[in-house]
Amino acid sequence: MTDQGDDLAGDGSAATSGETVIRRDRFAGGPARSFMSSLDADTRIFAADLAVDRAHVVMLAEQGIVGDGDAAAILDALDTVEDAGHDALPEGEDVHEAIESAVVNEVGPAGGKMHTARSRNDEVATCIRYRFREDLLDAAEASLELRGALLDAAAEETDTVVPGFTHRQHAQPTTVGHLLASYAGAVARDTERLLAAYERTNRSPLGSAAFAGTTFDVDRERTAELLGFHDLIENAADAVTARDFLIEGCSAFAALSATLSGLATDLIEGAKDGHVDLDDAYASTSSIMPQKKNPDSLELVRAVSGDAVGDLTGLLTTLKGLPRAYNRDLQRATPHAWDAVDIVTEATEVTAGAVATAEWDAEACAADAGAGFSTATGVADALAAAGVPFRTAHELVADAASEIDDASTVDEQVDALAAAAEGVLDDSLSAYVDEATLADLLSPSGSVAARDSRGGPAASAVEDSLIRLRDTHEDHAAAVDANRETLANAENRLSTVVNEYV
Ligand code: ARG
Repeated sequence: MTDQGDDLAGDGSAATSGETVIRRDRFAGGPARSFMSSLDADTRIFAADLAVDRAHVVMLAEQGIVGDGDAAAILDALDTVEDAGHDALPEGEDVHEAIESAVVNEVGPAGGKMHTARSRNDEVATCIRYRFREDLLDAAEASLELRGALLDAAAEETDTVVPGFTHRQHAQPTTVGHLLASYAGAVARDTERLLAAYERTNRSPLGSAAFAGTTFDVDRERTAELLGFHDLIENAADAVTARDFLIEGCSAFAALSATLSGLATDLIEGAKDGHVDLDDAYASTSSIMPQKKNPDSLELVRAVSGDAVGDLTGLLTTLKGLPRAYNRDLQRATPHAWDAVDIVTEATEVTAGAVATAEWDAEACAADAGAGFSTATGVADALAAAGVPFRTAHELVADAASEIDDASTVDEQVDALAAAAEGVLDDSLSAYVDEATLADLLSPSGSVAARDSRGGPAASAVEDSLIRLRDTHEDHAAAVDANRETLANAENRLSTVVNEYV
């Protein structure tokens, strides 16, 4: 097949002249194949194109547009092409032309009937959607794996008090459980975005032909059904032009990568502070400093967001200003999506592994949790609860804070607060907060326990929110499974129908 495929003209000239089933003599010259062709990048949609060809041919036969015998021969040839694989394809501008050439080589001129009532424009749009929907489900699954790791670790660390930062300054004590659950919530929205992109990706453009429909009595619903699409992109010009599903998917990848990059930074900082120990598998050492354990894998995860944002920007910039219907610019839009899919899905899996294997050091976390007078807000809250206007309480505690440093003991903190109360309220601190309450508020664990508002870091609040996060996790896993099942059923249905011919 390969031999014939490389030599459509039968005299050995095709492979070297650039002549193919579409370009023939007239367009055989021109820019290098490497510039014009998408054949290499199209390995990604080789299987998709075979499925699209099969569904189209079955529909053509069912509609009486091609005879059953020709359909059978073409479907048979498609099996041969599949067995030989993408690398065995003959020369072509792209996988669509190359597969068609291979079919014609197998079947003879009747193989050319495969391309009746369609164009490469609706064909490529369908192939990309067919493949990208699968990629979106793979990415959603990776995001579920990461969420599972975050939820498990969060459940184990609900009592692990750790410093919380704003502006990278010690702010308020929190817990590792609260921190990790915060990322589980963020990744849940990333999964939602991937599933939403799936919905709009999974619509069939097939049967639109070049952009103006076709004179043949095609059954677009039938090909959509055979390929597992849940709907059509109806308008033929819209169907062949639209790549907004890639924009949406790449936005979802960019958003997920931004979440990952934040998580990576928190883990990198936590490792630097000795709060968390990454498994050796997720770290590297230095070529010169033998003592070093560096969080390289997470630094690479953080950098992946640069790739994902670049892919989204490249995609949008390529698509911006394109008029209706097919323009060859679109060929260079698609690989941005493939790159984003690959790199962000892999980064998600790596992050899941790093989170699942990381060891949190509760003692080291607790030792730093009160640094920077981080329990100050709780004291201001207690004064406000006792009737002092919050703004006055804030001023009082700020006065005390200016007298306190990291080396100050709790007793020294109490003394500074008492002095500030005399100055600001002209009253004794104990008139508002008794000593035992104050001591509790000034301890990081007491501070955390008091913050039990919904979504707060108190163990009870985090445990509560973990229940809801687990429910959503299950719902999303069920949605991914249901979509996979729909696609698997469609694949079975298509092969059953094809087997009725071959
Ligand atoms: N290789 C092309 C792409 O990736 C396929 C469609 C080509 N269509 C055309 N009219 N030249 O977009």
